[in-house]
Amino acid sequence: MAQLIVSQNDSAFGSYHGCELPPELPKKWPLGLDRIKDLWETNAEGRLLVYLCKVAEDYKPGNNLTQFYGVGWIDYRFGARPKIFVPLLGNGIFTQEGLAWKHSRELLRKQFIRVQYQNLDDFREYVDNLISRLPSNGIVDLQPLFFDMTLDTATALLFGRSVYSLRAGIDQHEENRLFAESFDIAQEGLAKRFRIAPWYFLYNPLSFRKACANVHRFVESYITESNLEKVEDHEMKKYGFIKQIAEESTSLEELRDQLLNVLLAGRDTTVCCLSWTFRLLVRHIYVIKRLRQEITSIMGGSSMPSRD
Ligand code: HEM
Repeated sequence: MAQLIVSQNDSAFGSYHGCELPPELPKKWPLGLDRIKDLWETNAEGRLLVYLCKVAEDYKPGNNLTQFYGVGWIDYRFGARPKIFVPLLGNGIFTQEGLAWKHSRELLRKQFIRVQYQNLDDFREYVDNLISRLPSNGIVDLQPLFFDMTLDTATALLFGRSVYSLRAGIDQHEENRLFAESFDIAQEGLAKRFRIAPWYFLYNPLSFRKACANVHRFVESYITESNLEKVEDHEMKKYGFIKQIAEESTSLEELRDQLLNVLLAGRDTTVCCLSWTFRLLVRHIYVIKRLRQEITSIMGGSSMPSRD
């Protein structure tokens, strides 16, 4: 019933602003099931990006976007997205709308301004760990290593403590390994729910629920163990992000959700960017040469990069 009212309100709002329903993608099977099958299959075969680019090329969205930019953020709604993401992300910037979203946006904006001035030394340890995982010869698949590295840097930045997934199997606690594995399963689960959007509730297996519960338990215990009320000034470099978000959160769950939303936001995106960059660089030797020359011209013989 509530769904029906929302949908009627949306239609009335759309007509008022002169919007039509967005054009549907052509489909062969009822309910567009062929599209879902394509999404599922191309993802399993590693061809999802090519498939989506083709869909985007053929899609003509009309001028609804112009109307959307005109009405402003307060009326912008995500449709099924909050419900798709909620098992892992709870109530955070990716699932919120309207004023709640604005609050999160402001809160995170302040943190990102601070992080911009983070020293590049803070990344050194994790980059070194990645380099030590590279084979001395032969072919290497960098993407899984980038996934580990971004998890390690993001947890250090957000939680004040890295999960050191690049060192899993060397000297790391079982708990850290479980967190990294659970986060991957949970994240993949969200992507699967997204691909079947209105039927997201059909994908909710035990493995996914368990993974989300593990991630929540892990982040909550991180928060509790950090003893944030007692963080001293000299520890602010390490715990600044989590402490400042904690000060504006009303509960453990709220803080946990905000952290997890940023963790998710900053991980895949950065990994894809790094993977593509390296994929293209190794195929364009001339560009690598120029890049190396430029780095040497700026850094000279130093192995300590800085933002200056
Ligand atoms: C190359 C790297 C990145 C790309 C391509 C990228 C891209 C995007 C895109 C397309 C969105 C909009 C998503 C949506 O709401 O549908 C977004 C949102 C967001 N990103 Fe990134 N991102 C990157 C890196 C990061 C990093 C490193 C962080 C944080 C550590 C981050 C934090 C966020 C947050 C918090 C939002 C939500 C903003 C909001 O809803 O107001 N992103 N990003």
